[in-house]
Amino acid sequence: MLRAVVRAFGDPRQVIGLEEVERAAPGPGEVEIRIRRAAINPSDLIPVTGAYRSRTALPFVPGFEGVGEITRLGEGVNGLALRQRVLPIGASGLWQASLIRPAAWCFAVPDDLSDDQAAMAYVNPLTAFRLVDAVKAHFHGAAGLRVGVTAAGSAIGRMLLTLLAEAGFRPVALVRSAATAERLAEGFSGEIAGAPPLDAVLDAVGGDAGNALFRTLRRGGAFVQYGALSGAQLDPALIAIRREEVAFSFLWLRNWVHSAGRVEIAAEFERSFAGIRAGHLASTVDTVFTLSDLPAALARQEDPARTGKLLLAP
Ligand SMILES: NC(=O)c1ccc[n+]([C@@H]2O[C@H](COP(=O)([O-])OP(=O)(O)OC[C@H]3O[C@@H](n4cnc5c(N)ncnc54)[C@H](OP(=O)(O)O)[C@@H]3O)[C@@H](O)[C@H]2O)c1
Repeated sequence: MLRAVVRAFGDPRQVIGLEEVERAAPGPGEVEIRIRRAAINPSDLIPVTGAYRSRTALPFVPGFEGVGEITRLGEGVNGLALRQRVLPIGASGLWQASLIRPAAWCFAVPDDLSDDQAAMAYVNPLTAFRLVDAVKAHFHGAAGLRVGVTAAGSAIGRMLLTLLAEAGFRPVALVRSAATAERLAEGFSGEIAGAPPLDAVLDAVGGDAGNALFRTLRRGGAFVQYGALSGAQLDPALIAIRREEVAFSFLWLRNWVHSAGRVEIAAEFERSFAGIRAGHLASTVDTVFTLSDLPAALARQEDPARTGKLLLAP
């Protein structure tokens, strides 16, 4: 079978290779899953660069998110069936034709969800729930507070705008270009590029743009960083200076996933599936590539003309 593999850290377009390997057999408590669709997310590419090298062992197969169909059951697996569609979570490895994963890390997908939407039902929706919960917890409510969302045209940014409004906040969409602002305005009636001071910021950009927002955040506000699309973190000296005035925190879905119980995770998947059916948690697909076309997919990922998510069909 074909799989993507990383044997050295570096630029994803240079270091992610493709190779043919033998399929392994599932052990006790494990299942074999034929991957039908896998997403390409920014968070798949960051570990490839070596950003988390202390917790990333080489070689590894990238891909944290996707949907597959169970093709073999290991000994002692209950509650899952052959041909059932599942979301295998908890570790990378989805950019390959077939995957072995503990049954305990597989979550059933309802029949009415397409493979494309099921493949994007995990990382962004579940992170968006956590982020909105984090601001709610900070303010003990919402009451019209203005919450900035950076990279607001991203898949998760769009989800956050809706979820924040649903929770009673006033979302403020922050984007880097007029073209993105124009695209966003088609489906969003709130503020775009609103003036400071904001009450809170959910930031996926970091760097200079993040620092500028942090400086102007109102006293008593909350700043949650969950990405660094600029390639830089916020300035730690700035965070230290405003320590008494602004609550700064990082939020990583993986920390929650590895501490939450299976019942809690399953409940969040139900919320995600419902939001996808309703439309506000559905993500736009730009292109579906075959896995053998991975170099073209990685080039498209960096293309400013990309208008939605890229999926792989291994
Ligand atoms: N912490 C977590 O657990 C977690 C979980 C999920 C996602 N995330 C993070 O959330 C972010 C978005 O993920 P996604 O899947 O929604 O991405 P996506 O749909 O691929 O969208 C990314 C978009 O962000 C915008 N962007 C890129 N670089 C930027 C920059 N330097 N400044 C401002 N905007 C920039 C671009 O839109 P324009 O070209 O239109 O500006 C780009 O299309 C990523 O950083 C990801 O790592 C984190």
